Amino acid sequence: MARTLQTPDMDKILSLSKRRGFVFQSSEIYGGLASTWDYGPLGVELKRHVKEAWWRSVILGRDDMVGLDAAILMAPQTWVASGHVQNFTDPLVECTNCNQRFRPDHLFIYEVTQNGRFLGYASALDQEEASRRASVLLPTAPGEYRQLPIFAGTLHQLMGGSSNIPCPFCKMVGKLTDTRVFNLMFKTFMGPVEDTASVVYLRPETAQGIFVNFKNVLDSSRKKLPFGIGQIGKAFRNEITPGNFTFRTREFEQMEVEFFVKPGTDEEWLQKWRDARFQWYVDHGIRRENLRLRRHAADELAHYAKDCYDIEYRFPWGWAELEGIADRTDFDLKAHAQASGQDLSYFDEETKERYVPYVIEPSGGVDRATLAFWLDSYDEEQDKEETRVVLHLHRQLAPVTVAVLPLSRNARLAPTAQGIYQQLRRRFTTQYDDAQSIGRRYRRQDEIGTPYCVTVDFDTLDDHCVTIRDRDSMAQVRLPVAELVPVLQDKVEHGW
Ligand code: GLY
Repeated sequence: MARTLQTPDMDKILSLSKRRGFVFQSSEIYGGLASTWDYGPLGVELKRHVKEAWWRSVILGRDDMVGLDAAILMAPQTWVASGHVQNFTDPLVECTNCNQRFRPDHLFIYEVTQNGRFLGYASALDQEEASRRASVLLPTAPGEYRQLPIFAGTLHQLMGGSSNIPCPFCKMVGKLTDTRVFNLMFKTFMGPVEDTASVVYLRPETAQGIFVNFKNVLDSSRKKLPFGIGQIGKAFRNEITPGNFTFRTREFEQMEVEFFVKPGTDEEWLQKWRDARFQWYVDHGIRRENLRLRRHAADELAHYAKDCYDIEYRFPWGWAELEGIADRTDFDLKAHAQASGQDLSYFDEETKERYVPYVIEPSGGVDRATLAFWLDSYDEEQDKEETRVVLHLHRQLAPVTVAVLPLSRNARLAPTAQGIYQQLRRRFTTQYDDAQSIGRRYRRQDEIGTPYCVTVDFDTLDDHCVTIRDRDSMAQVRLPVAELVPVLQDKVEHGW
């Protein structure tokens, strides 16, 4: 059946999420904490499988990669040397009427004119909203809209000191403050005394844990360039405007590679990593048409980058970044060598040259990837009178790989079905379900994306065979219980 490329309404995902236990709002019993989320029993398995697929592909599947798990708290000098204390900032504007804060560079500002006559401004945090607001501003004359390109720092200039831009939240004019710059790093204190000497940061990227360990890994692993170090871990950014469910949160998980290369070969490696990482999303089930590559414009490059490509996914609210692949040059290693006084250069035995390596960095968001795999897999199929909700998740990412379903709760079936369940759970993420009709149970597994259901019926007691059902085609095959593990292993590896 042909599927639309359209990603589902977020409301459908949110309802499935809560009902089946993918993601819950954090601290919900206290009213929740804004933009923080907890992964429930199914969500944690989906996310774990995404991380495992990344680790298999990027670390275990390559001879030129090794793994690392560095601490979240690092010497504060790290963040001075890396440029984050100085440069890791966002511009912030506040409304003195409603006290909402937002990023002026995320604001859509429309000049509203009618018959060429300037009537005023409309503002909003997304384009559609801006047009709606503009018509609210001018109910009898919808006018014509022209979007102004507004960047940080120019907002106040445009407002001419006394604001004539309405607040995007309360719509009042004349209430926005000047743009001020705001550092995104979370601070805390190490030890019992809360003074400036004890300030430490929650890392805003896992990358720096890799840079400061470059020499340790090089000396202990005896790797030669080009080679890379990858890690998965939490990072924290005090975002001004988090949102879109688990897409932009202040606490999130990254999967990052720092790949060290000889200067001059960096552009070639940037392309190799860009293409390999794009293909990883396709190989794990995201439809190619819902992915695109976008090269950064010079004015959006991070302070450490010479070039960068974003892999973007077509989320329900528009295209947005899943992963960035940046050429960080020798910026970080040089900065840490200078700040620490340690030699972080590399001696190339082949050419007898000494140089500071350049770095290619594929940096992906675990939560974003998890959300994209989930959204892209969602489908509603018309099956006779019913709608079948199904997640066509890649078989290696699905939260549950196999469900064991005795045909009924009959006491004669339970020992055999339980025996099969105990055997399978040692190798696969397996669920046992004997509640309600078999049809209802298939539907329950479909909507959480379980690729294989094993049904135990009364014939099983005599012929020692079971039925495996494929989630996507709903095809069924009968086979001996003795062949179940190798057959399932083969299907998980290669597909139905
Ligand atoms: N390490 C790159 C980033 O966190 O965006």
